[in-house]
Amino acid sequence: MFDHDSIPARKWASNLPISHTVGHSILAVDNETTDDVADIYNRAGDDYVSYADGDPSQPFAFDGMHAYADRCVWAVLEKKLTDLRASGASSIRLLDAGCGPGTWLRRLVIRAHALGFSSITARGFDIAEAQIQWARLAAGNPSSLPGVNLTFDVADLADRLPELDASVDLTLCLYSALSHLPVACLPEISKEMARVTSGYCITTVRPIGSTPTAFVDSIEKVCRLKQDHVRNRCEIDLSDGRHIAFSFHQFTAAELRNYFAGCFDIEDLRGIDLFHSRFMPDSRWNPVSPPGDGQLAVELERLEEAHASRQEFMDRATHLLLVARSRRAAAPTACVVAST
Ligand SMILES: C[S@@+](CC[C@H](N)C(=O)[O-])C[C@H]1O[C@@H](n2cnc3c(N)ncnc32)[C@H](O)[C@@H]1O
Repeated sequence: MFDHDSIPARKWASNLPISHTVGHSILAVDNETTDDVADIYNRAGDDYVSYADGDPSQPFAFDGMHAYADRCVWAVLEKKLTDLRASGASSIRLLDAGCGPGTWLRRLVIRAHALGFSSITARGFDIAEAQIQWARLAAGNPSSLPGVNLTFDVADLADRLPELDASVDLTLCLYSALSHLPVACLPEISKEMARVTSGYCITTVRPIGSTPTAFVDSIEKVCRLKQDHVRNRCEIDLSDGRHIAFSFHQFTAAELRNYFAGCFDIEDLRGIDLFHSRFMPDSRWNPVSPPGDGQLAVELERLEEAHASRQEFMDRATHLLLVARSRRAAAPTACVVAST
């Protein structure tokens, strides 16, 4: 029999006080409830792009709501691109699983082109058709660059990937796409990513102790939110009348590592945004930041770095970042030798 308590996230959750504020079942009483992940991201509308990524015409501004985490993720991705280019590669293949509006793939393609890659093949896919339509629309400029083949498809992460074995240099699965999948599928999904990846697979998910999110809109629009860690289900009532309910799993760091460690070498696992969001002023409540906050930003950065890999902090970060290296990839030292 499947032992639910063997799942680390459930063990973590079992130590939490039980909430008595579940309220009514919105599924039972409200036929406006959206109960399908694809539907929720389909209905999120054009506003989702600016909510998730800021101004779509400024992909490197990193000044949106998730700016700090985005900058951390981008630093990792950009380093992988520059390392690959420095190793002498002139072609690169990228895959973004659960790409949403495709912003991360666009960033990578633009940067890879600027770094001098002469052949860039990039595919993003998502279960939500509206997200893919947006991604195709926004892909206009980068996909017309010479040597670039940028495509977006509607597809399910739970299915076999069409990519050949070891055909992808960089596989992304960012901002909780994995959290929407049934936990029982995760070992197969990570195995499938390992099959197609020759370089690195980079994922971010929400840890078990992260702060609440409304997923498709800003948190101040939430009237009621309940995450059920036993059923891996999140229910949200939004102030505009929308009710959304969908599969969502929050991970412990150890659990995320376990899903990938069987088929990849884990290069990095850390919490992102332990302190920054907490120190962000809220214009509805706080006065303008006092002068001298530049020094505070430096200190916050130091604190993030000092605690990012500590178990008790990782599980309470806003995001968990995992960098998994394909077992086929040359060890980093070998790359240096190859480039001389
Ligand atoms: C929070 S969004 C993140 C989007 C994108 N990765 C980013 O960082 O901007 C999560 C995405 O996962 C997608 N998703 C959820 N379940 C999926 C599945 N089974 N297959 C493919 N995509 C899925 C959703 O449609 C949504 O676009």
